[in-house]
Amino acid sequence: PAAATSALVTAARESRHGVAAFNVITLEHAEAITAAAERTGLPVVLQISENAVRFHGGRVGPLVAGASAIAHGASVPVALHLDHVEDEDLLRAGVAAGVSSVMVDASKLPYEENVATTARITEWAHSRGVWVEAELGEVGGKDGAHAPGVRTDPAEAAAFTAATGVDALAVAVGSSHAMTERTARLDLELIGRLRAAVAVPLVLHGSSGVADAELRAAVAAGMVKVNIGTALNIAFTGAVREHLAQDDRVVDPRRYLRPARDAMTGVAAHLLDVVAGRAG
Ligand code: G3H
Ligand code: ZN
Repeated sequence: PAAATSALVTAARESRHGVAAFNVITLEHAEAITAAAERTGLPVVLQISENAVRFHGGRVGPLVAGASAIAHGASVPVALHLDHVEDEDLLRAGVAAGVSSVMVDASKLPYEENVATTARITEWAHSRGVWVEAELGEVGGKDGAHAPGVRTDPAEAAAFTAATGVDALAVAVGSSHAMTERTARLDLELIGRLRAAVAVPLVLHGSSGVADAELRAAVAAGMVKVNIGTALNIAFTGAVREHLAQDDRVVDPRRYLRPARDAMTGVAAHLLDVVAGRAG
């Protein structure tokens, strides 16, 4: 059934496990991720980024409606989340379309502006029962919080969380977005200090670049929501490439979208297990 991100994150935190949140670009992503959640018997978050909405012509409705229908039909809890939102119109449209949570990404702004913007949007979202994740990297960091080398300071993270009222905090601890090799080295000691300093659950972004053992260690150290995008796209595109290479007469997209979707399901199921602390 459809679930709320807040419930899934709270349950994961209480059981000292993580909950995986996967990025949805196409309907096949939502189907594959949900099939993986059903296969593993684990809850999952389907997240739609502002970039994905832009790809679909700037309209949030069709993607949210498709993902929502898939979530409602699932045998495990599936929540809908809006990821990396900078455009407030999109944020409002997403909430109207039915997402249960949003990530306000004001991390490219100077610290004081990040605080003011995040606090204002959080108040609005809370008045509608919507859970809010925000992001904090380095003060004045020009490339956003998840450029390589950026680290979140625990004292500043605690102050930011208190000043904004957010429900979860994305922190920079060594991962970076869109890595195609799983070579990121996380600062586990920093994750522990952030967990001790910050009252709300922590979120790991750029998790595709993090290997299984390191992901398990990150969750054990205090990461709760684990965001994964690129890993599924590697599986998707690899399967399509393989199919097209052996069949140069194919016309029906279902011929290559089916193996692509299956490949994403396999990768998502494995990562769901890893994030939940299972052997995988
Ligand atoms: O918000 C989405 C995630 O941070 C995904 O990052 O594509 O590097 O796994 P990734
Ligand atoms: Zn991210």
